Amino acid sequence: MLRITVCVSGGGTNLQAIIDGVRQGSIPNTEIAGVISNNGNAYALERARQAGIDAVCVSPRSYEDRERFNEALLAAVDRTSPDLIVLAGFLVVLPSALIRKYENRIINIHPSLIPSFCGTGYYGLKVHEAALARGVKVTGATVHFVDEGTDTGPIIMQRAVAVRQGDTPELLQRRVMEEAEWIILPESIALIAAGRVSVEDGQVKITDRER
Ligand code: GRF
Repeated sequence: MLRITVCVSGGGTNLQAIIDGVRQGSIPNTEIAGVISNNGNAYALERARQAGIDAVCVSPRSYEDRERFNEALLAAVDRTSPDLIVLAGFLVVLPSALIRKYENRIINIHPSLIPSFCGTGYYGLKVHEAALARGVKVTGATVHFVDEGTDTGPIIMQRAVAVRQGDTPELLQRRVMEEAEWIILPESIALIAAGRVSVEDGQVKITDRER
């Protein structure tokens, strides 16, 4: 059984896709050990509570400095004893200590086809604003392992989404969520739960059957 802890900051639609996948069996052998948010107002926390999942807020505002917050965040994650940490719209720069402790056991969903429109400053609607400004005809989403960089870890899965004439950032964000994020994040977790994902020389390998 893969124990996952999901870190969130906002509406939690990706968290909801994971909750639904675990409940419906499309993410087998997986249990959500906990949900952690940096934002006490995140609706994602309410989604967790409605699903009967332990949910806590670890807010930077509650700590005297960044170091104390980082320590509290790591402690909160450790308390859930996760096999895998899933960043689902989590807008916090992870402390290096957390990334090192859970090397190749943290995944993130980014709303573009990395390496496009990613890195510092590219999150939420800003990603889709940049894609529309550039005039790309295809965008999408990426699930990747988290390393010490920003959106730079080994790529696990990507899914393309067409950009349509007249798209606004909001319309495009919604389509990327519906047609990409909510599909590839649960699928990636299911592959990891099945033991089919490994990282070799910085590249993700997905086997046909359990390793
Ligand atoms: C969305 O912009 C999504 O593309 C990105 O994080 C934001 C919040 O998503 N991954 P969610 O509804 O909180 O899952």
